[in-house]
Amino acid sequence: MENNTSEILRVSHLKKYFPVPAGMLHAVDDISFAIDNGKTLGVVGESGCGKSTMGRAILRLHEPTSGEVYFQGKDVLSLDKKGMKELRRDMQIVFQDPYASLNPRMTVSEAIAAPLLVQKIYNRKNKADIEKRVKEIMNMVGLANRLINTYPHELDGGRRQRIGIARALALNPKFIVCDEPVSALDVSIQAQILNLMADLQEDLGLTYLFITHDLSVVKYVSDDILVMYLGQMVEKAPSDKLFKKPMHPYTQALLSAIPIPDPDLPMNRITMKGELSSPINPGIGCRFAKRCPYAADSCSQQEMVLTEEEPGHFVTCQRVQRGEI
Ligand SMILES: Nc1ncnc2c1ncn2[C@@H]1O[C@H](COP(=O)(O)OP(=O)(O)O)[C@@H](O)[C@H]1O
Ligand code: SF4
Ligand SMILES: [Mg+2]
Repeated sequence: MENNTSEILRVSHLKKYFPVPAGMLHAVDDISFAIDNGKTLGVVGESGCGKSTMGRAILRLHEPTSGEVYFQGKDVLSLDKKGMKELRRDMQIVFQDPYASLNPRMTVSEAIAAPLLVQKIYNRKNKADIEKRVKEIMNMVGLANRLINTYPHELDGGRRQRIGIARALALNPKFIVCDEPVSALDVSIQAQILNLMADLQEDLGLTYLFITHDLSVVKYVSDDILVMYLGQMVEKAPSDKLFKKPMHPYTQALLSAIPIPDPDLPMNRITMKGELSSPINPGIGCRFAKRCPYAADSCSQQEMVLTEEEPGHFVTCQRVQRGEI
């Protein structure tokens, strides 16, 4: 492994397959990337392309089928139960729907204190210390201390997501998988939560893997962006490069579907043909071929390979690689 001191997470050839009645569902199929300390890698792609499964596989909430995950140089997939429990302090997750991920019978205080008790940071009897820490975390995420004894159903979506973030922060993690943390929220509240997450990243030096299907969100939060299609990565680049010069026809189609606020700019909308094919028993070749406006016969016959076309800009399209498009 390359010894890069600023690198906090390295994922190599990660795969997660689910056995299903029709065969093997390739939910995550050979994903590789690294994230530097304090940075955000945005992961974008349509619903069902494997984003959540990838985020969970990195944290071993889904046991990966194969591949490697190194966190601060530690081989995550070789850790035993005790090692994983320790690692949980450093690697956390924020879910899309905080209501679904919160126990409706736990108050704000109990929800935030739970990870502290599970990890035995505090003894259950140290009520005053626990309350002090819970209030401190509530302040960090902008939750008024008067809400400490309320239940999730008494709060709006934005406040519930603040509890989700508070829970993730309770153990002072270094890295957080943010799985569509604002997708379930009203647009007006999305910006507040995104700003909060940006401030927390800055103040605490957090590293994010930020999953979203929303390109305007991913553009706002990401240093680098990884585009997924049916379990595979199709393109990865620094955020500005990806938006300025998307190379893969799928990324181009995704970007052209974002409404452009400037009326003087042409839309150049690329329409995707056909439907998302299935990630069950996929053959070799480009999984986007059925929908790609540039598809050639060769596209479905050759194994996909990720190549670095420009410094830091990786793509799998064979026709881009051959300089044909
Ligand atoms: N536990 C599971 N068993 C079988 N298939 C699953 C399971 N979880 C997810 N999948 C499938 O894996 C693929 C990727 O799902 P997911 O990671 O949730 O995508 P995304 O988060 O991008 O919407 C989908 O085809 C989904 O149906
Ligand atoms: S490999 Fe072929 S089908 Fe796939 S994106 Fe490139 S041109 Fe389109
Ligand atoms: Mg998902």
